[in-house]
Amino acid sequence: MIIPPLLLKSLATATRVAALTGAGISAESGVPTFRGANGLWKEMRAEELASMEGFLKNPALVWEWYAHRRAILQTVQPNAGHRALVDLERLYPGLVVITQNVDGLHRRAGSSRVYELHGNIERNSCTACGEPHPSTAVALRDGRPMCTRCGGLVRPDVVWFGELLPEEEWEESVRASRAADLFLSIGTSGLVFPAASLPLVARDAGAVVVEVNPEESPLTVAADVSLRGPAGEVLPALVEAARGVTRSPRA
Ligand code: OAD
Repeated sequence: MIIPPLLLKSLATATRVAALTGAGISAESGVPTFRGANGLWKEMRAEELASMEGFLKNPALVWEWYAHRRAILQTVQPNAGHRALVDLERLYPGLVVITQNVDGLHRRAGSSRVYELHGNIERNSCTACGEPHPSTAVALRDGRPMCTRCGGLVRPDVVWFGELLPEEEWEESVRASRAADLFLSIGTSGLVFPAASLPLVARDAGAVVVEVNPEESPLTVAADVSLRGPAGEVLPALVEAARGVTRSPRA
């Protein structure tokens, strides 16, 4: 993979690196993306499965869908793309991973600073009393997930359409994007806001913005460099290039 001179220069001088990731980085682990040819939203209606309205209409169906996705996650592992971000963190201590993914694969790979903007599919809480419930211990009544403390409905701790992002994660993500001198946007369609605004925040604050995606996206025009290819191949190449131009580890 040819790394353009602008990116090589940025890899050599960057001290603050942030990476925004989307479903594309987990695709090579076998986790389905939302959009695209085999995307989840092709087969299913997002409003039915990923909104409070849809959940209240049919909690059993929504719960079953999340249980199915959790079951997929039991069988998958972080891939070379996730691991490359861990390697980059060694070269750029303090590297921040801002993810839209709810699959927990960045933490499993070993990234230490991860902001989960859309929550985490392994956590659940009661919609009535807020009690947290581990996925393995949610009681079902006619397929509906019930809170054993108050009898309310239990929901996954993921951000649904129309809901606000977790405040602290969002604020930290904006801060890291503003502070970044190198910003990587990896495997995201760039269609869901406010996450999709972060590359623009970084660019406006002076960062070199790099898109990693096999396809063009609405973020392409905002990126200084587009690396076309799967994250599992592009990111290890980026790590190699960074090793060539940095003295590791950076202060
Ligand atoms: P999308 O499914 O919208 O986009 C996935 C992107 O990954 C596309 O641009 C693909 O071209 C790209 N892609 C596919 N394979 C790749 C690979 N191997 N390496 C790199 N890129 C690859 O996923 P997101 O952008 O994450 O929100 O979607 C954003 C949000 O929309 C999700 O967090 C979810 C969804 O509705 C909620 O559930 C709140």
